[in-house]
Parts: sequence; C-alpha cells; structure tokens
Amino acid sequence: MNIIIALLCVLTNQVISQTEDIFPAKILAQQTIISENSDLYVTCTTLGRKKDSSVHVYLLVNGCGIQNLTQKQDQSDTLFTISSASLHHSGNYSCVYSPNHYTLSEVAKKGDDIIQILVIANFLPADISIVGSSTVHEGDYVEFQCTVSQHLHTLGGCKFIYAYLRKNVTILQVQVFNVSQMLTTFIIDGAVLRDSGHYSCIVLPSKCFYEHEHTVHGTNKVFLQVKGKAL
Ligand SMILES: *[C@@H]1O[C@H](CO)[C@@H](O)[C@H](O)[C@H]1NC(C)=O
Ligand SMILES: *[C@@H]1O[C@H](CO)[C@@H](O)[C@H](O)[C@H]1NC(C)=O
Ligand SMILES: *[C@@H]1O[C@H](CO)[C@@H](O)[C@H](O)[C@H]1NC(C)=O
Repeated sequence: MNIIIALLCVLTNQVISQTEDIFPAKILAQQTIISENSDLYVTCTTLGRKKDSSVHVYLLVNGCGIQNLTQKQDQSDTLFTISSASLHHSGNYSCVYSPNHYTLSEVAKKGDDIIQILVIANFLPADISIVGSSTVHEGDYVEFQCTVSQHLHTLGGCKFIYAYLRKNVTILQVQVFNVSQMLTTFIIDGAVLRDSGHYSCIVLPSKCFYEHEHTVHGTNKVFLQVKGKAL
C-alpha cells in the first residue's frame, strides 16, 4: 500500500511539480529521533512570507503529502502531530503551502528545507546461535550468542541497550547489549531437562541502558539460598 502511494507520488511529482502556487515553507522539529509509538511533532512555518489570505499547509514525507491543515492569515506556525509513530514514519520531512486547496497526492514537491526523522524500533528480532553443540547434557554450560547484523539506530547514540533471551514467549533473561560490538551472550550454567526448547533473542533499540542505572533502584532486595535436596 505504502509502495503504491509512493509510486503515485513520484509519478504525480513529475507531472505537477510545475504547479505555480505551491510554495516551500520551513520545517522545525523538537526531536528528529524518536522511539516507536511516541508522538512526532513538526511545525511548518511561513514566517517571513507574505500571505494575502489564509493558506493550506502541507506536511510531506519523502516528497509526498501526508497531512494538511489550514493556517490563518495572521498565523505563521502550524503544528502537525503524528500520533504513535511507526517505523515507516522515518524519512525526510518538508513543508509546502498554497493559497489553494490541493489533495495530498497533488502537492508532491520538495519543501524549503528537509529534516530527517528517524523512528527507532522498540523491539527487533536478533540473530541467535548456540556456541558449540545444540545438544547438551544435564549440568552442561550453554552459551547463546545474540547478534544484530544490520546497522542499529538507538536513541541519542546510546551505547548499551537491553536484550532479552526468550524461550518461546517467555522472557528468561535480560542482558545488556553492547551496540558497538553488536553482541551479547546469555548463559545457562547447568542445563536441566526442561531447558530444551526454542530460544530467540530480542533487542530493544529504544531502551537505553545507563551504566550507573543499577545503583538507583532503591532498597527492595531479597536473598535466596538454595541447599541440597532435603532427605
Ligand atoms: C533523505 O535525505 C538524505 C540526505 O539528503 C538522503 O541521503 C536520503 O536518501 C533521503 N531519504 C529518502 C527516503 O529520500
Ligand atoms: C514453541 O515454539 C515452537 C516454534 O516456534 C512451536 O513449535 C512450539 O509449539 C512452541 N511451544 C509452546 C509450548 O508454545
Ligand atoms: C563494547 O564494545 C566495544 C567495541 O568492541 C568495546 O571496546 C567495549 O569494551 C565494549 N564494552 C563493554 C562494557 O563490554
């Protein structure tokens, strides 16, 4: 669906880009890197442009119109909101305006300037492998290696994020994932029969781990002691 819209947009771009009364506007965003499901706010501004009437302001992504709003003559800023942004909202944003109304597919055109918005995934499946044999004996040491092969975007250049080891749908372990190394390991020290199963690894690119984080978690602690089997 998105591909079809993008194609239509490219085609109309070639036909309509001569439209005389669509003008570029400036674009501003508070944040250009946001996490998935958070709201994206961008402002299109016609500040310094002479307007004889109210205008229609269009927000474009990669040259395609996605939203429009009316701006009164005495206003210069129009705030656009994309609620609960998803990964496909990443792209190059720009703004145009016109005294006349156009459909979103008609405004295909570059704005005055472009800002690149990146939406960071909350969960990403990672590659998982077992170091050594995937058949082990009870009591054996098992090491899972979890890696990400594509470039990983994180919030604010975060260096460490979280990763989960899951067995089917259950989260078994949480680890810190080193973004520069693109690797983390999970260990089962002393496998038992019920550890057999399907394991997967999930990384959380929008969830930054700060090295001093573990020291701020208050006072609720509990100590568990395991003794040998009672007779
Ligand atoms: C967005 O702009 C950047 C820099 O100009 C460019 O490298 C990139 O390919 C553009 N992305 C899209 C989807 O057009
Ligand atoms: C665990 O996942 C595997 C494959 O993903 C599936 O075949 C199996 O039925 C699942 N087991 C449970 C208990 O959900
Ligand atoms: C993270 O990876 C980098 C690059 O491999 C390495 O230099 C650094 O020591 C690693 N940090 C930790 C805490 O493992």
